[in-house]
Amino acid sequence: MGFKQEFIDKVTQASNLVEIISQYTTLKPSGRGHMGRCPFPDHQEKTASFSVSEFKGVYHCFGCKKSGNVVSFLRDFNGMNFREAIEYLAERNGIVITDDCYENNRPDQPLENKDHKKTLLHANKIAAEFFRESLKRQATDSPVRQYVLKRKLNPETLEEFQIGYAPNEWEALAGQLNRSSIPHAVSEEAQLLKRRKEGTGYFDLFRDRLMFPIHSPTGEVLAFGGRIIEQGEPKYLNSPETPVFHKGSVLYGLAQTAKHVRSEDLVLVVEGYMDLVSLYQAGIKNVVATMGTALTPDHAKLIKRLTNNVVVLFDGDDAGKMAAERSLPILLSQGLFPRGITLTEAKDPDEFVIKFGLDALKKEIEKAPDLFKVILKSWMTEYRGEASDKVKLVDKIKPVFDVMADQRLKSLYADDLCQIMGVNKDWLRNSFQGNAAGRSQGFGSFANANTQRNFVTETPTPVLAAASEAAKADENAQIKISDASKVELMLLQNTLKSRANFALMSDLQEPLTFTQLLSQIKHLGVRQILENAEQVYRQDAEKFDRLVSQLIDKIDKPELLFQNSKLDIAQIGEFDEEKEKKLIVDLISRIQQEFIKDQAKRLALDLKSNTTDAEMLRQFSELQKSRLALKGESKK
Ligand code: GTP
Ligand code: MN
Repeated sequence: MGFKQEFIDKVTQASNLVEIISQYTTLKPSGRGHMGRCPFPDHQEKTASFSVSEFKGVYHCFGCKKSGNVVSFLRDFNGMNFREAIEYLAERNGIVITDDCYENNRPDQPLENKDHKKTLLHANKIAAEFFRESLKRQATDSPVRQYVLKRKLNPETLEEFQIGYAPNEWEALAGQLNRSSIPHAVSEEAQLLKRRKEGTGYFDLFRDRLMFPIHSPTGEVLAFGGRIIEQGEPKYLNSPETPVFHKGSVLYGLAQTAKHVRSEDLVLVVEGYMDLVSLYQAGIKNVVATMGTALTPDHAKLIKRLTNNVVVLFDGDDAGKMAAERSLPILLSQGLFPRGITLTEAKDPDEFVIKFGLDALKKEIEKAPDLFKVILKSWMTEYRGEASDKVKLVDKIKPVFDVMADQRLKSLYADDLCQIMGVNKDWLRNSFQGNAAGRSQGFGSFANANTQRNFVTETPTPVLAAASEAAKADENAQIKISDASKVELMLLQNTLKSRANFALMSDLQEPLTFTQLLSQIKHLGVRQILENAEQVYRQDAEKFDRLVSQLIDKIDKPELLFQNSKLDIAQIGEFDEEKEKKLIVDLISRIQQEFIKDQAKRLALDLKSNTTDAEMLRQFSELQKSRLALKGESKK
């Protein structure tokens, strides 16, 4: 269940965009807003081109064209999802979240749970600080410090990821948690301590391990991964699942790397903590790690919010290959574009960089082929082109095709397959149409693929079932504006820019009223937005000022509101009113011309098939007249 719009508005309105962004760059007052240097890591600039308009609740960088509102900033910079961002902002502004903040008064989790989770997170935070301090306290010649040296982790990296050390004692953390008055039951539930089987008391779960805290995008510590120093079993001890930690929906490192993923518009997915940390330190910072598990649909969704471009960089061993294979349908089902690298001369990315250097890895990343190709190749190692080979291969591929979200990609992959396998398209299509397994029907089912469907399909594996489930549950339905015409987008952008501009359109009088203009707008989404904007404008002008900010969460391509126009929607300097007015008048007349042209075309078509209709002829000549009149007017 989501938050009520009312509550979202309350929280975002209470939030100070300047204050949030000022955590990452220095903003100075300028005009009716603030300016500063762009905080995004891909845009290193000397002069300030990043503008923040707090009264509109939006930011825009003239340099790199990034734009958004407070929620999308927290997503792009810190990797928060919508719910996390709203909770973070509510907390920051001292707004209490109660039952009736949710739609239908049904929170996704009972509120007493929320407080409970906070106590667990608090315990984790204390543990993380304790581990960090204890790493610092260790002597330089201690095994852990020597190990850190050997793994080439420098102090800045340790700091950035808050890496620590769990001492080689049974009750070190237990003592600290006690001193901090954390109840045993809480520490136990947070999986920090375990109850002794015999006797009384609790002991530390993590002992003598290098500790990697797992952060949420809001900066909380959700869990830990602890690596043994040098050799031993298990190599990594991960926190078991707790109410605040679900391995399948957290990506390690995202809190630190989201802004880099967003900036590069590309994410590398690796398996291990050390891979991520080591790549980050070497300078490749757009990375996330799955902590040794298979990639889940939740992981793919986290990625999808930041970028569509994925390079999977799993280890070269069998487990790594299997993980890459399993990730393919999941990534494709989210409409992502996965590519893949098989590391052959090194065990994992960390080792690869140490052995061959950063540039070698960057080159591999650049030339990484589509993951589909990589997996296909591995499926074809024993393929000889026999008929039975073809059938077996197509059975393996079918589940991947079934969940693919992008039809264009699907069709191109099908073309490739036909070529590589030496089959024709009809055969492939038939094989994909549900009767690939065809066990009970023998030869006949092939010829009658369409009339005689065989529904004895294999039950999908849980992973695939989850993937197709995820493909269906398309986050929150959005208004698609990306396919609107340029003129209509420009009208939207320029009228929403200011009250004065909007008035030029909403105050239109006969012969063309606002309502009539609306009916001439072709794109349904643009029309809906303008219709809604007019209501807001009439009811509450201040709310109108923040409309662009609100729209950002509701449309598929918010950047379109900031591009395309000579005039900047986030503008904080002086307006040239005449220029604005001229542009709007011009846009309105272009929309009318488009409309009339379309109508004339339609009528002309009708006339061809029905030449005797006098009424139609009359309409046509009327139209021509108004067209000419309009042209004359716009020339003036
Ligand atoms: P190093 O050996 O320190 O370089 O670590 P790595 O990150 O290269 O680890 P590896 O490739 O062996 O494993 C990848 C990831 O799988 C790790 O980061 C852990 O998240 C997880 N993992 C590895 N070993 C274990 C284990 O013994 N138990 C559990 N639960 N997870 C493990
Ligand atoms: Mn490794």
